[in-house]
Amino acid sequence: MQRKKITVKDVIELKKAGKKITMLTAYDYPVALILDQAGIDIILVGDSLGNVVLGYDSTVPVSMDEMVHHTKAVKRATKYALLAADMPFMSFNVSLKQTVINAGRFVKDAGADAVKIEGENKRILRMIRAVVDSGIPVIGHLGLTPQTAMILGGYKVQGKTAQAAKEILEQALCLEKAGCFSIVLECVPFALSEVISKRLKIPVIGIGAGAGCDGQVLVSYDMFGLQERITPKFVKKYLDLSRQMSDAVKKYIRDVRQSSFPGKEHSFIMPNEELDRFLSQDKS
Ligand code: KIV
Repeated sequence: MQRKKITVKDVIELKKAGKKITMLTAYDYPVALILDQAGIDIILVGDSLGNVVLGYDSTVPVSMDEMVHHTKAVKRATKYALLAADMPFMSFNVSLKQTVINAGRFVKDAGADAVKIEGENKRILRMIRAVVDSGIPVIGHLGLTPQTAMILGGYKVQGKTAQAAKEILEQALCLEKAGCFSIVLECVPFALSEVISKRLKIPVIGIGAGAGCDGQVLVSYDMFGLQERITPKFVKKYLDLSRQMSDAVKKYIRDVRQSSFPGKEHSFIMPNEELDRFLSQDKS
């Protein structure tokens, strides 16, 4: 079947048709190519880039330049999926002008189709409206918002009390009204995400938010098992790449030390007469 590029409209249509939306993160060309060719709907260049790839302790230090650099690499591999990029901490908080310029860099310089903005308060809503008004589609992000985890009291499940759940539902409605075409809902009880998914017209993509959402997202390196860091409860490991890669490296070290790599099949040959000539030149 002929595949076509997924648009924002297609993502909304998937919800209307009751079809689940699939989303995974990517930070580089080879992984993005695998996701895109496997048929994922949305590729997110998450600011999880910080802890997953760049070795930071959190997403807070991630810069615009780092995000744009990795989004460009992912873009080169992405033919079909909708490509969204995370706006890093402080890239959408300073001023409306700076926010729109930064969102524009993702679209103009890096080739993203949409940006994702974490959080919801009066100030952030103004920023989101400005980005949407400038013609850039926005995905909201509620529940556990890692950029402001220090305000939320750490990496904890959000919306566990009736009051907190009500607040997250209201925030979700505000994001929809502000023009987001979708929201990511992270680490909330599944009963809450079910209610939010039903109340919102726009798709709700869950991570640690249960099966009632319109779609699911995971950090690809987590589901590949390519992370030595603590794996959150909501992650399903589809592979154990970290162990497999470590075994491969140990075998390589052993092979090199025992001179069993490279073998003849990995080496290049020189015609015999050229070799003889070379060796005789070497003697003279
Ligand atoms: O940065 C990220 O990877 C994310 C996902 C967890 C949704 O925001």
